Amino acid sequence: MISEILPSWFPIAASILLVLVEVFFLLKDTVKSVKTNQRCASALLRTLHDFSNGKYYNPWGAQPIVIEPTAKKMTELSDTPLLSQRAVYADLFGFKSTLSNFNHNEINSSRSRLFGLILSVRGGGHLRNLSALLQRRAQKFLDNELSQRPIHSSEPIHVGLAETCKLFNSRLMAVIFFGEKLASDPEFAAALFQHPLQTVTCMSLFQITPSFLSPLIHAIVTKRGQAMKLIQSKMIPIIQKGVKDWDEHSSKEDTILYSMMTETEDKRAYWTPEALCQAIMGLWFAASHQPWVNLYIFIYQLCCHPEWQVILREELRTIENRMDIDSISSLPLLDSFMRECARVYCLDKLAIRRKAMQDYTFAYDNTTVPAGATVCVSNWNVTRDASTYPNPDSFDGARFVNGKSYDRTKMFADVSEKHLIWGYGSLACPGRLHATYVMKLMIASFITRWDIKLEREDMRSHWMYESFSMPYQSTAVILQPRSNPIAV
Ligand code: HEM
Repeated sequence: MISEILPSWFPIAASILLVLVEVFFLLKDTVKSVKTNQRCASALLRTLHDFSNGKYYNPWGAQPIVIEPTAKKMTELSDTPLLSQRAVYADLFGFKSTLSNFNHNEINSSRSRLFGLILSVRGGGHLRNLSALLQRRAQKFLDNELSQRPIHSSEPIHVGLAETCKLFNSRLMAVIFFGEKLASDPEFAAALFQHPLQTVTCMSLFQITPSFLSPLIHAIVTKRGQAMKLIQSKMIPIIQKGVKDWDEHSSKEDTILYSMMTETEDKRAYWTPEALCQAIMGLWFAASHQPWVNLYIFIYQLCCHPEWQVILREELRTIENRMDIDSISSLPLLDSFMRECARVYCLDKLAIRRKAMQDYTFAYDNTTVPAGATVCVSNWNVTRDASTYPNPDSFDGARFVNGKSYDRTKMFADVSEKHLIWGYGSLACPGRLHATYVMKLMIASFITRWDIKLEREDMRSHWMYESFSMPYQSTAVILQPRSNPIAV
């Protein structure tokens, strides 16, 4: 990502540049017609409004308001409609441009309910039915897509860790979303891979440029929305024809596209094919970014703690290396290792971000927050709370099976006030089963085939952007084929 190579003073310089650009345009346009002046004034007002509303990363601006992470307060924070989850993410990712005029001001609770129904309520069953297909897809990825060279040689393979995690996740999620046939269309798969990466690049650039330049930046980064247009050109005709005429593998009923089509069938006036496609691409973004960033940390930590490769391999042996969702969900050490990595490396130091749409007073203790403020809790403090996690700064991969955690939950996919990776309350991530299965599949299939180590010991894991840990794109690993590889 571009920002990986940017120096730390860059955001400050860019923010100053932003103000200068605004002033320049204002002065320039004052000499033009009254109409132009009005346009300029409105662009300036919009930019000032965006600034005061926390749209930009503003080094000297208002910091998020961090509230106490008690279950009651977090439930109120998460579920109060006046504290908007969507507005925070729309600001952060510039969805208006990247998702073809996404409008976060619409009432979105019906959208959340739809995602909850398809992913949380029905997701487990769908994943179970897709499990064989997903294992085959993982195998195909390892055999054919990981390396240019034939993969069966005993030679070690060098791969970029970030790129590999992104690709693995994208290929498997594509099957879950769109089915085997559509997901294996090379153009479609490439566009699905590109779109979230471009969204993240746009997101970084939108933070340092005035909003009226967003369409231009978006057009440059995305080559005029090439990936999105290709995706739309393949998905919209399928939606228009309807599920019966969708020529897809027999498991199509278990895909997210199928569920989205059938669940919205009687509301086509609202859920036009374009609107549905846009909603699915919003979901695709949620399913693309976070899993690979987490996968990266898990594999990186397996390199730092190679004994865990041995431990997890042994545990997989107890289920005869089966990787269907039920078998792989019954491995306490694997869950413990993943939770401990997530706890120690805490990829987002804040959690449950919400933007106050109006001044708001918490019922629980009368804390007030002004309109426009971002409110959240400190995930970092939760992960470092010694009353829940004794000796919190040390890594203990077995913590969740050896009594060194006092949280009531132990599984990676659990939601708990002490494990905020998925958020909390009714808006907690509905895709956690999908993400967890894909991540476990990658960890298990990698360690059964290879001994994994960093290409160089000094390769670093991540850098920080605000509260987010971002993987280094340059970190590479060596996959040394095991003398006695186990078929996946
Ligand atoms: C490791 C992977 C993932 C992590 C860590 C993660 C984390 C999160 C978090 C923190 C939130 C916000 C919760 C809040 O603000 O209260 C969220 C929301 C969401 N996530 Fe995930 N997520 C992951 C993967 C996925 C996947 C694979 C999908 C889809 C298949 C998905 C779909 C969603 C959706 C739809 C929302 C918004 C919920 C709503 O609007 O009601 N996520 N996720």
